[in-house]
Amino acid sequence: MSNQERVVRDESVQEEWSLDRRGFIKIGAACGAAAALSTGALAFLAGCDSKTEGSGSDGSGTSEEAASYDIVIVGAGGAGLAAALAASQEGVEKVLILEKGISSGGNTNFSSSGMNASETRFQKRDGIDDTNTLFAEDTFKGGHELGEHALIDYMCDSSAAAIDWLDSVAITLDNITQMGGASVKRCHRPTDGSAIGKTLIPGLRAAVEQSGLEILTETPATELVKNDSGAVTGVKAKAKDGTEKVYQAGAVIITAGGFGSNKEMLREYRPEVADFVTTNIPYTTGDGMMMAQKAGAELILMDQIQTHPTVEQETGALIAEGIRGGGAILINSEGRRFFDEMGTRDAVSEAELEQPGKYAFVVYDQQVYDKNLDAVSYSERGLSVQAPTLAELADKIGVDAAALQDAVATYNAVTTEGAADPFGRTKGLIAFGNGPFYACKIAPGIHYCMGGIRVDELSRALDANGKPIDGLYAAGETTGGLHGGNRLGGNGVCDTMVFGPNAAKQAAAYIAG
Ligand code: SIN
Repeated sequence: MSNQERVVRDESVQEEWSLDRRGFIKIGAACGAAAALSTGALAFLAGCDSKTEGSGSDGSGTSEEAASYDIVIVGAGGAGLAAALAASQEGVEKVLILEKGISSGGNTNFSSSGMNASETRFQKRDGIDDTNTLFAEDTFKGGHELGEHALIDYMCDSSAAAIDWLDSVAITLDNITQMGGASVKRCHRPTDGSAIGKTLIPGLRAAVEQSGLEILTETPATELVKNDSGAVTGVKAKAKDGTEKVYQAGAVIITAGGFGSNKEMLREYRPEVADFVTTNIPYTTGDGMMMAQKAGAELILMDQIQTHPTVEQETGALIAEGIRGGGAILINSEGRRFFDEMGTRDAVSEAELEQPGKYAFVVYDQQVYDKNLDAVSYSERGLSVQAPTLAELADKIGVDAAALQDAVATYNAVTTEGAADPFGRTKGLIAFGNGPFYACKIAPGIHYCMGGIRVDELSRALDANGKPIDGLYAAGETTGGLHGGNRLGGNGVCDTMVFGPNAAKQAAAYIAG
């Protein structure tokens, strides 16, 4: 194959990711060289380097000194792209994003249901009565009361402005759905009800591209550089040519995600879930956390690892929580419902693991399919089976037909006649209508790390004494404390879209002195 044939646009790589996360490495290997040659949406720059001896943080070894920047961001996922864009809007001129993977977007590429936000103009338009206080209460409660109030309050109070900020860069999230643990509908998604990642990442990428910001893919950061006063002044990274380079920076923002794909870390912090399938891309290996820890930051709540209850086990593909919020139910291998489908993720996961065979099915009707574009992709990717009647669906998935019909009839009575739900479900109650009907076989999978770098509401990385480390900021899943012991669905994107820009603003203020 010629080099020309190998050229792949960034967007097409994303499309491949969305089809098969496990094919990611294989596709990545095939496209690695291509991404480097791409004339697509991002600037894959080689840097203008000069050889320097002994510039490592330990003063030993050989590193090449690359160009210096105002801000270097480690990780080009949702938080990193949002931080870069906000830094540019703050007037910061030289911003570089270092990305370990073959392309930008990270796990946010796969983010499905949407972004939680309160007191938004779209909620007001729809007559949804919500407050920042209620959002904060739900987040604290959903996180088993382990979350930090200062972080929670900052996120919730800033969430409506974040929705408007995204709208200002043509990312409109005006279709609102219900998520587990939320008192009201506050999960904002694209107008057509499609998975948010597929709108958010291309939109942010386009805005980043327009701002002329640099992203170096396949360039994993390896270590933070500090000066004699202990301030972070740069990042070492392994360049595509295999050499180690030092990128000097006025400030560094770590947005490198969690460690959901690092078996060793999972074994260390939560051995009982280490062998679960993961929804994370393979690059999510906790590097940012480890780097920050080495530079003196404290890591907190590291054993708080979320399993998502509806993960297809062969591919690690997530069946979005918004599907349940739109009316879907969960049944076990006997065709019976067994739990409040809108409970928090940890509770639903636990209930599934108590079922025969430790798996379940997400079952929904045509109206759910029509309102959630993700459902179309489940059919296309072979993640769901379809049948014209419930009895035929039961037959296809090997459950008792009478039990499934009874489960749906009882559920419909709750939604239409106001009967009390035997499992206490009060949210996302929408009656099943006519067929066809659909089912996806699922079980819990590792989804999110609530623990990570300790930060304050100014996104500054803190040491074990709560003292900020000068020049070091962090945002998104790489941080710990916001979500406590359990993250609510839809709060991941809100975290990144609030704290990514916040870290950039704070870093900009720091370098301005
Ligand atoms: C989901 O839609 O179930 C995943 C989105 C999230 O983790 O917030």
